Amino acid sequence: MTTLSTEHLIGIRDLTAEDIELIFKTADAFKDVINRPIKKVPSLRDITIANLFFENSTRTRLSFELAEKRLSADVVNFSAASSSVKKGETLVDTVNNILSMKVDMVVMRHPNPGAAKFLSERIDARVINAGDGTHEHPTQALLDSYSIRERLGEVKGKKVVIVGDILHSRVALSNIYALQKQGAEVMVCGPTTLIPKYISSLGVKVEHDLRKALEWCDVANMLRIQLERQDIKYFPSLREYSMQYGLTKEILDSLPKKIVVMHPGPINRGVEITSDVADSDQAIILDQVENGVAVRMAVIYLLASQIKR
Ligand code: CP
Repeated sequence: MTTLSTEHLIGIRDLTAEDIELIFKTADAFKDVINRPIKKVPSLRDITIANLFFENSTRTRLSFELAEKRLSADVVNFSAASSSVKKGETLVDTVNNILSMKVDMVVMRHPNPGAAKFLSERIDARVINAGDGTHEHPTQALLDSYSIRERLGEVKGKKVVIVGDILHSRVALSNIYALQKQGAEVMVCGPTTLIPKYISSLGVKVEHDLRKALEWCDVANMLRIQLERQDIKYFPSLREYSMQYGLTKEILDSLPKKIVVMHPGPINRGVEITSDVADSDQAIILDQVENGVAVRMAVIYLLASQIKR
């Protein structure tokens, strides 16, 4: 297989296992490129990409921009905070104005679940979802699985626990779909109030005891508590959350096997993970960031190769 089964990347739910394998094989080649002295290929010299960020981002925005530039695409960046959205312009009007400037692909982060799909049904350009509210963050899940594959050889058969604020997490949902499509076993762990009731229907295990979850897994993906999405109190205090669900070096060292620790960022050091865990050799957090560029180059390259030019 040399092409993706989809024209846009809205969510991992839409991808096949073969799509994920193709993205990873393509990312392997791009990882070689970005480790060369000249970190650039001319593949997308005739493609223009707009990065539309309606919500804050550090890693995803920079990673997409670097991936696009490493592929030699022309890049324009849009941040809602400094745009005419503040004057009342709608999403579709904003995007159509940008597309009039002959843009081929749109990478969008938006606070509303479904925004990327909405856009893909209304514009004549490829759309990549860079995170839509609490729904999906597909490239994050791809780079997470790619990093597990790199560290452990394969994803199939591995036991992965996702710990923390599952209720508000697009990273959790995309990871569940991605890991299951590749044959991994998935568990979620956190306080009852932060685990959505529907989660068991996705075929994941649920555990409320962090130690039991860590003893079960090969990989722990520690999520941030998303206070900005919480309109009510889901637990008494961050200190109490940290005491029950924070991963410390003491817990890590007491486990029967050496597990891999992941975090999508941004980290709240001392809440979901202590600094000595985040900086330990069991953590692959910066590998995830590095792999993000290669994986995003692969996604952009594969979607752009479907555009008739
Ligand atoms: N992991 C992630 O999406 O980070 P940013 O919010 O900084 O892009």
